[in-house]
Amino acid sequence: MSAIYQTATDSALSPSRILETVTSADKSVNSAGHGLIESIVARDAIIGVVGLGYVGLPLACLFAERGFQVLGFDVDVTKTDTLNLGASYIEHIPDDRISAMRDSGKFVASTDFAKLREPSVLIICVPTPLTKHREPDLQYIEKTGAAIGSTLRPGQIVILESSTYPGTTRDVLKPLLEAGGLRSGTDFFLAYSPEREDPANVCYSTSRIPKIVGGDCQTACDIATILYDQIVVGAVAVRNPETAEFVKLAENIFRAVNIALVNELKVICMAMGVDVWEVIEAAATKPFGFMPFYPGPGLGGHCIPVDPFYLTWKAREFGIHTKFIELAGEVNAAMPEFVINQLTQQLSARQGIALRGAKILMLGIAYKKNVDDLRESPALVIYEMLLKRGAIVSYHDPHIGAIKPTRDHPALSGHCSKELTAEEIAGADAVLIVTDHDQIDYDMVVQNARLVVDTRNAVARAGIDAANVFKA
Ligand SMILES: NC(=O)c1ccc[n+]([C@@H]2O[C@H](COP(=O)([O-])OP(=O)(O)OC[C@H]3O[C@@H](n4cnc5c(N)ncnc54)[C@H](O)[C@@H]3O)[C@@H](O)[C@H]2O)c1
Repeated sequence: MSAIYQTATDSALSPSRILETVTSADKSVNSAGHGLIESIVARDAIIGVVGLGYVGLPLACLFAERGFQVLGFDVDVTKTDTLNLGASYIEHIPDDRISAMRDSGKFVASTDFAKLREPSVLIICVPTPLTKHREPDLQYIEKTGAAIGSTLRPGQIVILESSTYPGTTRDVLKPLLEAGGLRSGTDFFLAYSPEREDPANVCYSTSRIPKIVGGDCQTACDIATILYDQIVVGAVAVRNPETAEFVKLAENIFRAVNIALVNELKVICMAMGVDVWEVIEAAATKPFGFMPFYPGPGLGGHCIPVDPFYLTWKAREFGIHTKFIELAGEVNAAMPEFVINQLTQQLSARQGIALRGAKILMLGIAYKKNVDDLRESPALVIYEMLLKRGAIVSYHDPHIGAIKPTRDHPALSGHCSKELTAEEIAGADAVLIVTDHDQIDYDMVVQNARLVVDTRNAVARAGIDAANVFKA
């Protein structure tokens, strides 16, 4: 498969040569596939992006910036209204990027799902969370599949990008699309291509990350590969959607397991009086066989704490128990408790006070640095645990002015970020660094704090060495 792709997408080839190369290699390309490839290469194809969140919005921007007409769909009318006014609602995507694509006439957002008929390419980027019982929650994919199925017309390609377990594209989405009588591979095309977005990563934005593509048939794979090759550095074709679905989970499980490993190493290092961050930096000088991962207060975000359990759930169907994944989950989930125990010990040893009644200022509550995303943030777990143990808790986060309602932490809803002043810092018994946002003035924090407990090595990375800082 990759052979077809490599020849077909050679940027030196003209559109007609690309088409000729693909169609001669893939004899199954029918007139519907032929027309779609032609319109993609000519950039006449309208692209529909369903779900305009952290993944869908930058993808829509990229297609519009590369000259495609983009129709964005979302169920949230405040998001579509904001975008149609030329403004962004995601902090690291600037307003002028949205206004530029709106003003160019290349982008319109809509909540009108009857318009799903208009694009010839439909890319699904809706959420895939876990249920309360930590099982895959496919309701958003199912609703989108049913909506597309009711408007599907011959000649469209549907590509699922949401992270999910192997089998979702063909076992869950495809029947919904075929419900009206059209058939994948002849009337319309179906593929899976995982999103690998890393929000706020300045080195690797969407266009610099290769796309994995798995088609329900060879033609679907060819079309999706050519499509993504128009907007990213390269597309990598794999045998089928299940392989592509597995690739995404493998990548995230790799991260979850390695983060668990360094979290465990941190606990051992601390018991031995060794600085785990120094160990990792030194080990990373080895030019092969070691890749640095960093410990922290626990896992966060929409992907790493969630996706591994999609595979765990699916593996059960095959009688397989995912020991590694479960163990990594256990180690990572124990980190908030570990951090609080360290904080409690430091308050007692250095100030002779208990956690109950102590004033704790949390620095950073987003799940990772420099983003405004709170999903699955370990800070919320720590925040609630501290409150339950009688601490008086406040927070400062330059990216999160107030905590929005969440299913798992409703009691924190409405809590607001404090301004980070010398008085605020000095008034706290301890400052707990949970998220290492770049724009925090760590020097000012250390100068004014009685005690700083740093879960991210942020103070040392800022070049500050002070006796009132404890790494946890
Ligand atoms: N955020 C990331 O860093 C990241 C990275 C890689 C993969 N992913 C995966 O991409 C998918 C989307 O994640 P996200 O972070 O963009 O989520 P998000 O919550 O930011 O965005 C999803 C959007 O879909 C909309 N939506 C929900 N139901 C819909 C429906 N039926 N029709 C149309 N729109 C609907 C929501 O209103 C929201 O705007 C998930 O599967 C996630 O695991 C996310």
